[in-house]
Amino acid sequence: MASASLLKVSPVIEKSEWVKGQSLRQPSTSIVRCPRVAPSGLTIRASSYSDELVKTAKTIATPGRGILAMDESNATCGKRLASIGLENTEANRQAYRTLLVSAPGLGNYVSGAILFEETLYQSTVDGKKIVDVLTEQNIVPGIKTDKGLVPLAGSNDESWCQGLDGLASRSAAYYQQGARFCKWRTVVSIPNGPSALAVKEAAWGLARYAAISQDNGLVPIVEPEILLDGEHGIDRTFEVAQQVWAEVFFYLAQNNVLFEGILLKPSMVTPGAECKERATPEKVAEYTLNLLKRRIPPAVPGIMFLSGGQSEIEATLNLNAMNQAPNPWHVSFSYARALQNTCLKTWGGLPENVKAAQDALLTRAKANSLAQLGKYTGEGESAEAKEGMFVKGYTY
Ligand code: 13P
Repeated sequence: MASASLLKVSPVIEKSEWVKGQSLRQPSTSIVRCPRVAPSGLTIRASSYSDELVKTAKTIATPGRGILAMDESNATCGKRLASIGLENTEANRQAYRTLLVSAPGLGNYVSGAILFEETLYQSTVDGKKIVDVLTEQNIVPGIKTDKGLVPLAGSNDESWCQGLDGLASRSAAYYQQGARFCKWRTVVSIPNGPSALAVKEAAWGLARYAAISQDNGLVPIVEPEILLDGEHGIDRTFEVAQQVWAEVFFYLAQNNVLFEGILLKPSMVTPGAECKERATPEKVAEYTLNLLKRRIPPAVPGIMFLSGGQSEIEATLNLNAMNQAPNPWHVSFSYARALQNTCLKTWGGLPENVKAAQDALLTRAKANSLAQLGKYTGEGESAEAKEGMFVKGYTY
């Protein structure tokens, strides 16, 4: 864990808000040290960006819309391209990402798109900045700011997520480039424990990331992915998820994160991928909503689920089941695989298939938009959309 003492240079302090209206005593030096123990007047709140953060989060959490996660790292994007026989070159990644962001009318169903760093600075094949294409589509550009998973020393073969070093300056640069929200994905493995150490590290890392992101104008998506891997039943997933979210919110609060200016990206509560007993969408919805009600304050504007290897249809049906009655938060999607799978296969790297591939993306986006509104019926879905996409120990 990082030290609790916090350094801030004076220009930042001037624009910071102070908790509970307590008065600000400007120190004589240009550095303020916050005490380790609960302060009487020295807690630095997230940023002059508070109003903008709340607005951005609300815009993303608008009815009938969710997030297109297209933030695959170059390595992961390479695996996707390899599955359709393409080389992992910048030109191929650019062609694929151009196809995604320029699908006509995508903004009717998608309010935010998470990009990998390369894409945030990339142009489409016709030379338009990708960020501008998204903005024209009424889609908020976002950025993956974590630096990926590495082994967690002292754990039961578990991992932790890197990226806090230099995060403040990177986030400020991403904001300049047009990003308004960000994502940090850490994982928790049920078959490997999870150990108390791994859960604590995941929760603390997410909380530090969230505070730093808000301080630089980015709405943080908080994503502790509880991996589908394992033979466990749904009750065990529920138990672990309760533990994980309790710690995440404990540390978010400790880090003075503004709950109205975050979005969550949880896994749905399902049985492990290798569990023989499968759960219906109604059961997944019941368990997942129970978890959310017990752990997530209504101040949080949006719950944007990951798909985690579920089939396209499963992910849509489960979301639809969760939206059959009003919820305190916007309950929606932030899918990568469950939005892109059929689209990628339909494209196959051929220019003449771009339109059909965009139609496939729009079909999934529309289905999930309907599911966000609780109005998805599942009629006319292809057999392909029913295929599962689970990959053991999936990395991003
Ligand atoms: P999936 O929907 O493929 O699980 O993607 C998760 C993710 O974190 C993408 O940003």
